[in-house]
Amino acid sequence: MRDRPDSIWPPKSKEIEQAFAEIYSSGDWWKYTGDRVRKLEQQFPGSHDCRFGVSVCNGSVAIDIALKALGVKPEDEVILPAYDFYSLPKSVLNVGATPVFVDVTAANLSIDKEEVQKKISSRTRAVVAVHISGSVAELDALKEVAKEHNVCLVEDCAQAHGAIYNGKKVGSWGDLAIFSFGGVKLMTCGQGGMIITSDEELYERCYAITNRGHLPDGKVNRYGIIGENYQMSELQAAVLLPQISLLESYSEKREEACALLDGELSEIDGIEVLSQFPKTQRRAHMRYSFYYRSQLSRKFRRQQLIDRLKRAGIPALPAYSSAKSDPRLQRAFADQGDDFPNSKAAEQEIVGIDHTFLLSKRQVLSRLAKTIEENLAKN
Ligand SMILES: Cc1ncc(COP(=O)(O)O)c(C=O)c1O
Repeated sequence: MRDRPDSIWPPKSKEIEQAFAEIYSSGDWWKYTGDRVRKLEQQFPGSHDCRFGVSVCNGSVAIDIALKALGVKPEDEVILPAYDFYSLPKSVLNVGATPVFVDVTAANLSIDKEEVQKKISSRTRAVVAVHISGSVAELDALKEVAKEHNVCLVEDCAQAHGAIYNGKKVGSWGDLAIFSFGGVKLMTCGQGGMIITSDEELYERCYAITNRGHLPDGKVNRYGIIGENYQMSELQAAVLLPQISLLESYSEKREEACALLDGELSEIDGIEVLSQFPKTQRRAHMRYSFYYRSQLSRKFRRQQLIDRLKRAGIPALPAYSSAKSDPRLQRAFADQGDDFPNSKAAEQEIVGIDHTFLLSKRQVLSRLAKTIEENLAKN
């Protein structure tokens, strides 16, 4: 038996193999002849405390669709974290709105509610909370701020399937939430995504945008939406369906692993683990992350640490870059005057560990702290 079931994700399962075989023999490649996409849209939102779901071809377009469904227009502003994956600022640009960046909290890497308060203006249409690099945002406080100012709250849960805040799953706090089923995600079919909500009109709008203007009953939508084709295929949905029930047990194992790693890593001078808001009951698991503080870089650089961890069989990765320094977004954002010290520090000092490692046995998990300590002792 392997020490780490990480070379294949998701781990081999009879149900998934059977799902492939069934599609191949039935010829039901798309949702017009099969029922897997419909089933996924019924089951996945319920697993995240929401009523409705629209499956789409990836998480990146899911954000575009969510913003369009909310009616975000070129004259509007959208508040988003300065430390983030590429997709969100790109989506705000796609709908022609102005992205307004806000720093993240140093302890947690999620959007800082005090900073959000400061940046809300009469043009703000939405605030987006991203659960990134292992952390869940302070959802009740952000919801309160959004309500007070009459703006929408959107959750980006691309990295946070199964996370729980104050008794409710992530994705159920915002007006709309998006998930990704990309290749490295906690549930995957290679490429895929889902928008979930409990608001029926928002659901219909997302559905119409995704399904060439049609509503779930096949009628043309009454909102004047010219829809696109952003649909997921039956094959993708078939592969995802068995993963809904696997998510719970994997999430529990990963949460235990995160607690163990936090304990071991916090014993090492210069390594700082992230902290969660008190109401977080289960964090985002896609990348367990910690700070490799700059004083350690004098011994060896973060990239060298990542390379050494990889050589020891630990799937380590650098942090995300902020929109201001992402080369793909330079033209759009390089001239933004604001400074975001916490986002910058995260970009330079965070090390992430891929979620597959979190399903390893205890002795294997402990290799992370041991490998760091041994390497620091050598240099
Ligand atoms: C936070 C976040 N949002 C959105 C996405 C986009 O998802 P996709 O890769 O399915 O387009 C990702 C992908 O990694 C992500 O990490």
